[in-house]
Amino acid sequence: MNISILGTGFIARFYAETLVAQRRKDVVNMVYGRSPDKTKKFAEDYNVPNYTSNLKESISHPDVDAVIIALPNNMHLEAVLACAEAKKPVLCTKPLGRNGKEALAMLQAAEKAGIFAGYLEDLCYTPKFLKSLSSINNGAIGRVIWTKSRESHPGPHSDWFWDKEKAGGGAIIDLGCHCVEISRNFIGKDIRPVEVMCWADTCMHPIDAEDNAVGLVRYENGAIGQFEVSWSFRGGMDLRDEVMGTEGTIWTNNFLRTGFEMFSTGSGDAYVAEKSESNSGWLFPVGDEVHELGYNHMFTDMFDAIENSKQPLETFYDGYIVNAIIDAAYQSARTKKWEPVIIEDWRGTTEVNQHHAGTSYDENYYLIKEEILPSGEKKIILKNKKTGAIEKR
Ligand SMILES: NC(=O)c1ccc[n+]([C@@H]2O[C@H](COP(=O)([O-])OP(=O)(O)OC[C@H]3O[C@@H](n4cnc5c(N)ncnc54)[C@H](O)[C@@H]3O)[C@@H](O)[C@H]2O)c1
Repeated sequence: MNISILGTGFIARFYAETLVAQRRKDVVNMVYGRSPDKTKKFAEDYNVPNYTSNLKESISHPDVDAVIIALPNNMHLEAVLACAEAKKPVLCTKPLGRNGKEALAMLQAAEKAGIFAGYLEDLCYTPKFLKSLSSINNGAIGRVIWTKSRESHPGPHSDWFWDKEKAGGGAIIDLGCHCVEISRNFIGKDIRPVEVMCWADTCMHPIDAEDNAVGLVRYENGAIGQFEVSWSFRGGMDLRDEVMGTEGTIWTNNFLRTGFEMFSTGSGDAYVAEKSESNSGWLFPVGDEVHELGYNHMFTDMFDAIENSKQPLETFYDGYIVNAIIDAAYQSARTKKWEPVIIEDWRGTTEVNQHHAGTSYDENYYLIKEEILPSGEKKIILKNKKTGAIEKR
């Protein structure tokens, strides 16, 4: 497959590293950038035969089979509309839109044009995420009750992220979009997100947007997806997820403290890992960043899906739902109340059972808790099915 990358910045280079640095059958054939010098340099670095400063030309070029959007958030809609017009498969980085309205316009444009539309949510493709999801789907931790996803770092690397208008918000739209989609996958994408309660504040930087936030997303089956985001966390990039189920627990740490620790006096000036604040002292490097951040699995899924006329794991519809949840989070941060998630076109299930009777112990009792105490005594706490009384054995 011949690919055009729109953008030559931070994420465009990560994508090119994934597609070019490893031997893959997919070829980056075109790159678009505003600045001719940077675009030429990008083309040279990754051996890309065509480059241009004309967005439409980079999309409609006859040798381009699919387009990757790696542009600032305020340019995603324009780029998606150009792909729809040219009828080219499109893969868009996160967040899909700056808000639900923009994301819905992108979804509708792609569906109207009948083009493939994949959502590049890399953190839903990390090896740890994929293994966690398959364990959950196999029933290893029972029914998911509560998920917690955290992304925090010392703040983004380009000016436009800090501009509320261009980015669509602050840390919530930038980092929370990952956390929300991670939790949605664990709870079940079929389950409707109903309402959001969110605290957000600007704690450190002279900006209009929030640089810290915590939110709770309540799903129709009663599950809670918690997100924690920060642009003022010191010490690197903290990417952690937790899933709490009725039969088990999953904890993952995707970046810091992954089992690779290094000490350096700082000689050599080496790159350590994304958002690392230091290259001296005890360090937490990441072995293969593009792999550990999910980019390899993500592009494999995307290009396989295009070739086989299938849906990828992450679609524009998912991107739209994430934006709708984030809209409710911003509304809640303003009103300080639970705010509804407004979804124009819900495609998941509408039959959800919120009431869970509990585990049956025998024909007369539900089991509440079983525990062996330090004394060796075994305690069994039960609920009488008929009277509702709590009893012990
Ligand atoms: N994990 C991830 O998936 C991940 C990580 C980082 C960024 N992103 C996303 O990727 C997108 C780009 O972010 P980035 O970190 O690469 O930003 P960046 O600032 O490093 O790069 C942005 C690119 O867009 C170009 N650009 C900026 N304004 C433009 C304009 N008006 N017209 C044309 N080109 C313009 C810049 O020249 C640059 O090539 C954003 O949507 C961001 O949220 C995703």
